[in-house]
Amino acid sequence: MDSRRQILIQKREEASLGGGQTRIDAQHKKGKLTARERIALLMDEGTFCEVGAFVTHRSTDFGMEKQQFLGDGVVTGYGKVNGRTTYVFSQDFTVFGGSLSETHAEKICKIMDMALANGAPIIGLNDSGGARIQEGVVSLGGYADIFYRNVQSSGVIPQLSAIMGPCAGGAVYSPALTDFIFMVENSSYMFVTGPNVVKTVTNEDVSSEDLGGASVHGSKSGVAHITAANEVVCIQNLRKLLSYVPQNCEEKPTPLPYHGGNESREVLIDIIPENPNQPYDMKEVIQGIVDADSFFEVHASYAENIVVGFARLAGKSIGIVANQPAFLAGVLDVHSSQKAARFVRFCDAFNIPLLVLEDVPGFLPGTDQEWNAIITNGAKLLYAFSEATVPRITVITRKAYGGAYDVMNSKHIGADLNFAWPTAEIAVMGAKGAAEIIFKREIDSSTDREGAWKEKEKEYGDLFANPYRAAARGFVDEVILPEETRTRLIQSFDMLQNKVKNNPKKKHGNIPL
Ligand code: HXC
Repeated sequence: MDSRRQILIQKREEASLGGGQTRIDAQHKKGKLTARERIALLMDEGTFCEVGAFVTHRSTDFGMEKQQFLGDGVVTGYGKVNGRTTYVFSQDFTVFGGSLSETHAEKICKIMDMALANGAPIIGLNDSGGARIQEGVVSLGGYADIFYRNVQSSGVIPQLSAIMGPCAGGAVYSPALTDFIFMVENSSYMFVTGPNVVKTVTNEDVSSEDLGGASVHGSKSGVAHITAANEVVCIQNLRKLLSYVPQNCEEKPTPLPYHGGNESREVLIDIIPENPNQPYDMKEVIQGIVDADSFFEVHASYAENIVVGFARLAGKSIGIVANQPAFLAGVLDVHSSQKAARFVRFCDAFNIPLLVLEDVPGFLPGTDQEWNAIITNGAKLLYAFSEATVPRITVITRKAYGGAYDVMNSKHIGADLNFAWPTAEIAVMGAKGAAEIIFKREIDSSTDREGAWKEKEKEYGDLFANPYRAAARGFVDEVILPEETRTRLIQSFDMLQNKVKNNPKKKHGNIPL
């Protein structure tokens, strides 16, 4: 064989081994896949094209010139996910622990620039010991080059990050700037300062898992949007999420073929309990409305009093924001407001219509909430809905009380269509509390205090605990039967598909961060 061909073939083989077989074996022993194995699972078979396989670092300190690995610890390139062009970088822990050198950063930046220029999603598979310690400030500069590109790409192309090993120090900020963070249970962690520094500074003893593992970030901090039991499921989740979103902000999501049938859903009839204070699971309502098996929840274990996620309705992608009466009565608080606001902004940035299912008793009272800025955080959700120009529909299933009525995609802040079920109660507050305030004198002066209160509660409830006052004003467009909801939503989103709405020209708004 021509020796020049032979050289290329050998170099390719060398590059494919990263830091060598021994380190690959060590990676497998930890239950982790290699950078290339992950890409093979992510991309449609045979579609991955590598870029920069022969890049090597330029460092000469600490004898580094003698330790060269083709690719320098990151595999970069493009291919197809569900048949659509997608860019990827996958850090290779077998090369200097996947640490980020000047050239490693340059490779990531190159692929990010290509993704932005060509309007396609980018996925980062992170598995890295952080800044390449032997390189010092050039490595820090490399991180900042990536952060800058994350921000430039934000809202233009979808950016997904999967954490599949360590991700510590400033390195956490690239994933944090992307749209969604995926984590793998028991083998990935993220923190700004690790357990050793924590021990020195605060004298706390904490493991990496307890400080920044998938379950912590999936439930306590909300840093992780989607967690998975293992890497294979994590990568399947990445592919699934991409199926709901378009390639970039100029496009609409690609619909799946759908052959209509009987869209009436009797399963929705008996979900709302007789007693208005009894909880029910809003996810049952979601499942009853959307296409079978199409609901893909985001932030499933964080701020569970609000449910957000993607779904399909007659094959078309929608984003769902739904109060969850089964958790904290579906109240709005600091975390649920933030969670929903960020999801609304993602959907709006990428032309995904929004469906809001509303059953909300109001904002959570108390010092904890006030001191943690429920005012600023509630305003985030109000701002996000008010700013969103995608088709927006609300269905009030039960309570729509107080300020939360306004916030949850009301007509007044730009919703296109607002429906209510016959069980809807649209009022300043619940009948019991309202009666106590406005009929206080009558109740207190009555010989039968309890009886008087009940009577006034009924009086207030009869007047306001229904959807017809709001419908009379046109704040609710139609009162519909639960089983009609799916049909009505399919027709309505279809009607709204060419909606054009432009906010006033500005440099950018000032969302209360
Ligand atoms: C260079 C590194 C490295 C690094 C690991 N390695 N981290 N090389 N720079 N940051 C190398 C190791 O020398 C080793 O090389 C191989 O990667 C695997 O590392 P191990 O320690 O054997 O693996 P493990 O036991 O799994 O531990 C992984 C680890 C640990 C927890 C990530 O390596 C670690 O603590 N590394 C340092 C982390 C760190 O402090 N980074 C800087 C953070 S500050 P061999 O040759 O033996 O295979 C930062 C700032 C970013 O990142 C700022 C951005 C703004």
